Parts: sequence; C-alpha cells; structure tokens
Amino acid sequence: MPVLVEVGEDYRIDLADFEAKLSDADAVMISHMRGHTSDMDRIMELADAAGLPVIEDAAHSLGTVWGGRNIGTIGKVGCFSFQSYKLVNAGEGGILITDDPEIAAKAVIMSGAYEENWKKHPGFQNSFCQWQNKLPLYNLRMQNLSAAVIRPQLPEVARRVRDGRRNHDHVAGVLDASGLMRVPAALGPEERAPDSIQFNLAGDWTDAEALAFQREAKARGVSVQVFGLSEGNARAYWNWQFLGDLPELPRTRAMLMRACDVRLPARLTVPELDFIANALVDAARAARA
Ligand SMILES: Cc1ncc(COP(=O)(O)O)c(C=O)c1O
Repeated sequence: MPVLVEVGEDYRIDLADFEAKLSDADAVMISHMRGHTSDMDRIMELADAAGLPVIEDAAHSLGTVWGGRNIGTIGKVGCFSFQSYKLVNAGEGGILITDDPEIAAKAVIMSGAYEENWKKHPGFQNSFCQWQNKLPLYNLRMQNLSAAVIRPQLPEVARRVRDGRRNHDHVAGVLDASGLMRVPAALGPEERAPDSIQFNLAGDWTDAEALAFQREAKARGVSVQVFGLSEGNARAYWNWQFLGDLPELPRTRAMLMRACDVRLPARLTVPELDFIANALVDAARAARA
C-alpha cells in the first residue's frame, strides 16, 4: 500500500513529512521527477536507521550527480528509462541496476529468463540457481534491438548532460529575471542533467491567469503544462485512481497548481532557447495584463 509524501515548492520531498511517515514503511521509493533530486544524504540516513531499502526511480535522471555519486546508484536499486523523451532514447525500454546479487537474479528471472536462459549472462550463478522456477516470469525482457540503439548513445551522455544543463540555465536566467516566474535552485550537492525546465508562477496567480499563460505560450509556439491544471496530468497525484482512497497533500497540490513544465531537449541552439524564453516571458505578461 503506497503512502505518499508531501513535496515542497522546490519539487523536493518534504523531509519532515517523510520522517513522520517512515515508521510503518517496508521500503522507500524516491522518484527523482524531471531530475530534481531530494536530499539523498538525509533520506539514506533516515532509511538506513529504520532498516528500509531505498529504490530510486531515476527514470528521468540519467547523468544527474549527487555528492559526486551518480543518481540511481545511491539506494539499493536504481531504475532508468530509455523511453523516447529520455536522455538516452531507444523508443522504449529501461534498466534496473543494483549491487545486490539476489535482487539482480530475481529481476533477471522475473523479466523472463525461463529454462535457465540467465546462463547467457556471466556471474551470479549461485543466486540464479536458487531462484529458477520459484518466481513467476513476466516477459519484460528488453530486446537486443533496443540495446543496439542504446549502446552507441552512451558515449554521448556526457555531452547531452552538458548541453542540457546549458540550455536549462540559459532559459532559467531569463525567466528568473522577469520576476514573473521562478526556477527553484538545485540543492548544494546536486549537479543536474535537465532535458526540460520546471518553474513556478511567482506571486499570486489565479487559476484563470495560469490557464491564460498556457494558452498565450501556445499561441507563441511554446507548449507549457501547468501540472495541476492540465487534464489527467500523470504527475497530479489526484489522478492516481488506482490508489483507492486518495490522500490529500496540500503542499504538493499548491505546488502542482502553479508549477510549469517545458521541454528543452539538449539539441536546441541558443537562438531557439531565446525564442522559448522570450515567448514564455511575453505569455506571462499577457496573462497578467
Ligand atoms: C520519474 C519517472 N518515472 C517513471 C517513468 C516511466 O518510464 P517508462 O515509460 O520507461 O516506464 C518516467 C517517464 O516516463 C519518469 O519520468
């Protein structure tokens, strides 16, 4: 049964709420949404003290570094996505990483290693033997074709991270200078790898003004999603009907109602970034006029 934790205006986990909800937990799952990293030092300290494994959903965080460590390698398990919007794009696919041989063996077998097909991969023989035929097989194997698309992209990761960060910081400078939008700063130990930008509408905006901003930006050629105001948004927890009894998280809701999301792929050039940044500033001015 998932227990949701509040997220603050800076898109990071509210550590007081996290700590308060930890006592009944069996495991901790941290979603580094859009590459925003919560305080992993404190999260690991609290989870370790409670004896809880930490799973990092680093699907959208490849290349992010926390305190000199690659994100996704800090908890017991890290998950990465190679879906088409991600830094490494194979159309679809993803990986789970861990340094725990039992988890690795279970994951490989459950992904669909029937009839000892795990023998194709070196290592972990003992762990694999132990789990064969004792776990269901879900046929979630990533196909060789995806791997063939992914592997030549790996040497590109460092450049994409560098370009993505340049793009993000360039646009963030213009938005912050406008006084109408505010881009939350990275935490001290965090080196970001953004392929998009998130910012808050600064000051008191009504829902109608925030919706007008979306429309005005679209009219200027830039798609903006206000997370909480776009229909059925997957980041708005009130759309997670599969949870049954939906909790109320007032801080998170307030943030989502004014937090905006714009894609900034690493390939964009400085003139294209200026076009986007200026369109956003003009749209914000028009929405507030
Ligand atoms: C934080 C986060 N978690 C999970 C996912 C899902 O990844 P996938 O579509 O590869 O399952 C995504 C992206 O879609 C994501 O951004």
